[in-house]
Amino acid sequence: MATAIHNTFHIPATANRYVEYTSVEELQDIIPTLQGRPFLHIGGGSNLLFTRNYEGTIIHSRILGAETVEEDADTIQLRVGSGEVWDDFVAHCVSHGWYGAENLSLIPGEVGASAVQNIGAYGVEAKDLIDEVECIDLVTGEWRVFNNSQCNYAYRSSIFKHEMKGRYAVVYVDYRLSKHFRPKLEYGNLSTYLEGKDVTPATVRQAIIDIRRSKLPDPEVLGNAGSFFMNPVVSIEKYEEIRREYPDVPHYDVPDGVKIPAGWLIEQCGWKGKALGRAAVHDRQALVLVNLGGATGAEVLHLCHTIQSEVSRQFGIDINPEVNVI
Ligand code: EPU
Repeated sequence: MATAIHNTFHIPATANRYVEYTSVEELQDIIPTLQGRPFLHIGGGSNLLFTRNYEGTIIHSRILGAETVEEDADTIQLRVGSGEVWDDFVAHCVSHGWYGAENLSLIPGEVGASAVQNIGAYGVEAKDLIDEVECIDLVTGEWRVFNNSQCNYAYRSSIFKHEMKGRYAVVYVDYRLSKHFRPKLEYGNLSTYLEGKDVTPATVRQAIIDIRRSKLPDPEVLGNAGSFFMNPVVSIEKYEEIRREYPDVPHYDVPDGVKIPAGWLIEQCGWKGKALGRAAVHDRQALVLVNLGGATGAEVLHLCHTIQSEVSRQFGIDINPEVNVI
């Protein structure tokens, strides 16, 4: 019988078969049953858009726990099960005096996905903390460890999302945290937000939580998958062209050009807060598409395509989903 699949967009979707595993051995027992048919490994369902039912097996890690691998006066290395909830891990680190993850507070999803997606926010990315990613080959069942540089990390991207897509299941992620608190407050309005307050790991975590809650819709109330699009990187010439017309265009210099927030582009195109059927652009952050209630995946995808054409027509820039469209 088909199983309903949890996703934070609240799109009704089923899979022919849904299996969870709580250990590497359990996963290795499942692997032979997958061969020759489609399968998809998911995390917490917070970065998925189902446009159809999944005709195959969906696999999900329930490997839990965090253990200390090594520790000295300055750093600690932790090995964390891929099924742990990401924000529980961040809270655990902050409360134990291990730092580096606090700017990634309240990101939905699980530890395994942090390594696949290279989740990022407020000037920090998961790759800044990851030492090694332990995987199981979903064809052979063999264990393989990728060190940080072998993961080919880039903005919201990794070897697991591209070159090796679908080949490996992440079972453990090894993170290195610092025992010395060095706040990173350069991004956006973070330092303004903390003005007049003590800057401690707990206040930074709380500031991030407050800022996210003020902009991003709660998936329990309004189905969504966080940022729907990635921020595009454009050439310096393109950026200059936009700046002539919009002198205040927000931008970040990156090694291969200039990053322009997709939310800003979408807002300039007049789409912020607008709906198309039961799918809409969030009214406080145009990068987020929401399910107003009862939307199908096809409706959300139609909104996505409409926005992409509009941004391309008005700015000559292609924006691409960061959400995994199934
Ligand atoms: N902006 C607008 N209109 C909008 C949204 C944004 O003009 O509707 C402008 C803002 O004024 C600001 C700039 O765009 O100048 C950047 O906005 P924001 O700080 O909200 O960040 P973002 O680039 O839209 C990215 C991440 C978020 C992350 C924030 C903070 C991506 C795809 N998204 O959004 O990640 O929380 O930065 O670091 O890179 C997620 O991945 O799900 C996510 C929420």
